[in-house]
Amino acid sequence: MAMIGKDIEKVKELLLGDEVVGIPTETVYGLAGNALSEKAILRIYEVKGRPKFDPLIAHTDSFEKVKHLVRQVPMKAMQLAESFWPGPLTMLLDKTEEVPDLLTSGHKRVAIRIPSHPLTRELLQGVDFPLAAPSANPFGYVSPTAAGHVDSQLGNKISYILDGGECEVGLESTIVGFEGENPIVHRLGGIALEELESVVGPVDIQINTSSNPSAPGMLKSHYSPGRKLIVGDIEENLVSRDKKSIGVISFSTIYDLPKENRFVLSETGDLNEAARNIFRALRFMDAPHITEVLTEFVPDIGLGKAINDRLKRASV
Ligand code: TXA
Ligand code: MG
Repeated sequence: MAMIGKDIEKVKELLLGDEVVGIPTETVYGLAGNALSEKAILRIYEVKGRPKFDPLIAHTDSFEKVKHLVRQVPMKAMQLAESFWPGPLTMLLDKTEEVPDLLTSGHKRVAIRIPSHPLTRELLQGVDFPLAAPSANPFGYVSPTAAGHVDSQLGNKISYILDGGECEVGLESTIVGFEGENPIVHRLGGIALEELESVVGPVDIQINTSSNPSAPGMLKSHYSPGRKLIVGDIEENLVSRDKKSIGVISFSTIYDLPKENRFVLSETGDLNEAARNIFRALRFMDAPHITEVLTEFVPDIGLGKAINDRLKRASV
């Protein structure tokens, strides 16, 4: 078990010693280490059990600090930074020499994000290096949205988790790269497409879903819960199934099932609330009495697109 608390000084000390720690962000919890230290980066890959071809995001707290990490910033990237940083946006930008190749898996672009969570901002302000942080889950599993989730899966491998409560957004950041000035979305996430487009106009979407992707993280099978997940018409799929061992994750409908077998993402049909709950719901269904999970797509607008993306990957 890791220690869970709010001791930023202790976290700084661990990071200075190239240790890795759990940190809260508004999207999901991260497994953080010094992004400029190869030793710390290697430790992140080891603790997460992640293949080294899958690069890490560098987190920092100010645009000033970003400037040391990247060569140039396209105009539209500047506009997105002004609108959405700090927040759930990650941008792929050409890296400087200062950024270790190990962080980017040899790619020439580095993924950068300025998160908005107050505790983590305070931490970032207090260190003179960016923090590399993948989601703090074992590779391929559902991302953690509370300190306890990190502890239950990685608590035996790390000594400290900074407790920032429940994640407000609940889905990972939206990842945007650029071809010249053209923004391209590589991962749907906490900033909706409509929001991006309201700032920079139409954006392309290139989400790599192969099983050995060059822009990874996008592995087709991901976010896997411990149980088989079937996405479709819940009502129909419920017929002929044993209601004691079936789990149901519905968008807003309350099905007539025992409480331990159902999770409603948002009774009022609010997609932001559903986003906040989706990973918690998948975890909830890991209970031993559940053998299969039925779920359904949510409306494909706003954060609904990112939720549906996670459901597709979790059901492969
Ligand atoms: O919300 C988030 O982004 C969370 C929090 C902790 O900030 N982090 C997160 O990291 O989701 P991770 O490692 O689980 O997913 C980031 C994905 C990677 O899987 C990788 O595919 C992509 O970002 N990525 C990172 N660096 C990249 C690069 N240089 N080029 C292309 N893709 C990159
Ligand atoms: Mg992840």
